Amino acid sequence: MAVADSPVPDLSERASACADRLRAADRVLLASHIDADGLTSGAIASTALARAGIDHEVVFEKQLDAESIAGIAAREFDVVLFTDFGSGQLDVIADHEERGDFVPVIADHHQPADRETAFHLNPLLEGINGASELSGAGASYVLARALEGPDGDNRDLAALAVVGAVGDMQDSDGGLVGANEAVVTDGVDAGVIETRTDLDLYGRQTRPLPKLLEYASDVKIPGISNDEAGAIAFLSDLDIDVKRDGEWRRWVDLDAGERQVLASGLMRRAVASGVPSDRIEALVGTAYTLVDEEPGTELRDVSEFSTLLNATARYERADVGLAVCLGDRGDALAEARRLLRNHRRNLSEGLQWVKAEGVTDEEHLQWFDAGSRIRETIVGIVAGMAIGSPAVDGSKPVIAFAEESAEELKVSSRGSHALVRRGLDLSAVMREASQSVGGDGGGHDVAAGATIPIDERGAFLAAADRIVGEQLS
Ligand code: C5P
Ligand code: C5P
Ligand code: C5P
Ligand code: ZN
Repeated sequence: MAVADSPVPDLSERASACADRLRAADRVLLASHIDADGLTSGAIASTALARAGIDHEVVFEKQLDAESIAGIAAREFDVVLFTDFGSGQLDVIADHEERGDFVPVIADHHQPADRETAFHLNPLLEGINGASELSGAGASYVLARALEGPDGDNRDLAALAVVGAVGDMQDSDGGLVGANEAVVTDGVDAGVIETRTDLDLYGRQTRPLPKLLEYASDVKIPGISNDEAGAIAFLSDLDIDVKRDGEWRRWVDLDAGERQVLASGLMRRAVASGVPSDRIEALVGTAYTLVDEEPGTELRDVSEFSTLLNATARYERADVGLAVCLGDRGDALAEARRLLRNHRRNLSEGLQWVKAEGVTDEEHLQWFDAGSRIRETIVGIVAGMAIGSPAVDGSKPVIAFAEESAEELKVSSRGSHALVRRGLDLSAVMREASQSVGGDGGGHDVAAGATIPIDERGAFLAAADRIVGEQLS
């Protein structure tokens, strides 16, 4: 592929080098991360490898650490492709490379550790923001484009790349920006994605209207948000049919005129109840629709699709999520939907628990320890929902703990774009504070995580509080 044809020209040289090395391999082990971005990264890379005729096997890891990398090294593969992780563990990976265990190829968007390697595709290495402009799935997509051959155009894979980006919350300012926009453009050109300005509430495809309004937590409208009776009363006063055959309709069931009536009713109500204008603007955003998926299903809306994927991989069923990404609309989709009901219950119970228990304040941060009440694989999602909700003060980062094992504590941290603009970098906080107590961590400026020894919580918090203080001073 010519440089000019790359969706992200700044990354095209790195992508070509990675693609050439993969083509030269006998067999590739593809390792990816267990969340929506990791699953879509794995599905994009696996599809591109298969189309290029490159023999490979796919594995998923909860966390890439010295132990899981050693396990990967023990497998007899000459080349290992890491997607949606690998950059942060480059120190450990490069040691294996030097020993001749395997040649690493990395397509990632996390903060790199302080080492280099020959085949490394990461937006951060070219000045592109890895938390807001390109995800792991986006990096994998750029690689997939470099892998395409004379009879294979991989632009259809842009659909999964957008699911990954939204799964990592890269659209949190109302739409995708930067390199992600180029990926969207590819998907639109390929006829797999449609974009439209729409009411920006989670659940437009599957939620009945009262639930759509009641559960919308990003913009709080008094008397509607978190208020079932209020949401129903508001809907019943609108001059549209909100029910059909006795059943609540969904946003996707409304025609353009009906949507307009509902959206402007909601805006008027927000204005009348004193919601600030910047919050009212946040009610509208860009919707990304996967046009090949059936309307009214979780797969049609990229945001609902990403939650469906988290519901599989974060519960040790990455195989199910991968199968859905690869097109299984039978047994795998049915199983994913069952897992989704469980995931939703866990998120809602987890958030309730945090709201009821409250957080503990330190000088520069706030924290809670969920022990074994919240699964460590979703405690970060709950922390993100908590800091985005009016119940938790958004002016300090949140640090969440959950039990990982009898010996280890999982740490998740979430901040805000406003805090990042003031200097917050949670990736550095998690890495430095965890390493100071014998653990390890990393991630993004706005969202990061770590694992630490179970009895080091106090020392870890003291270090993290000091580092956040320095960053924000
Ligand atoms: O695995 P890691 O990249 O894959 O996951 C990113 C995490 O950071 C996700 O849980 C996502 O929700 C969170 N995030 C966030 N706010 C952002 C960007 C990412 O909470 N603006
Ligand atoms: O699970 P996932 O990280 O994809 O969720 C992304 C966002 O979608 C959450 O932070 C939350 O705001 C919203 N969400 C929701 N209800 C759910 C699942 C997710 O509102 N059941
Ligand atoms: O697990 P959690 O959702 O809190 O992770 C937030 C971000 O931090 C993710 O991008 C994840 O890959 C990263 N992380 C990391 N090292 C860890 C834990 C999380 O780089 N030990
Ligand atoms: Zn990611």
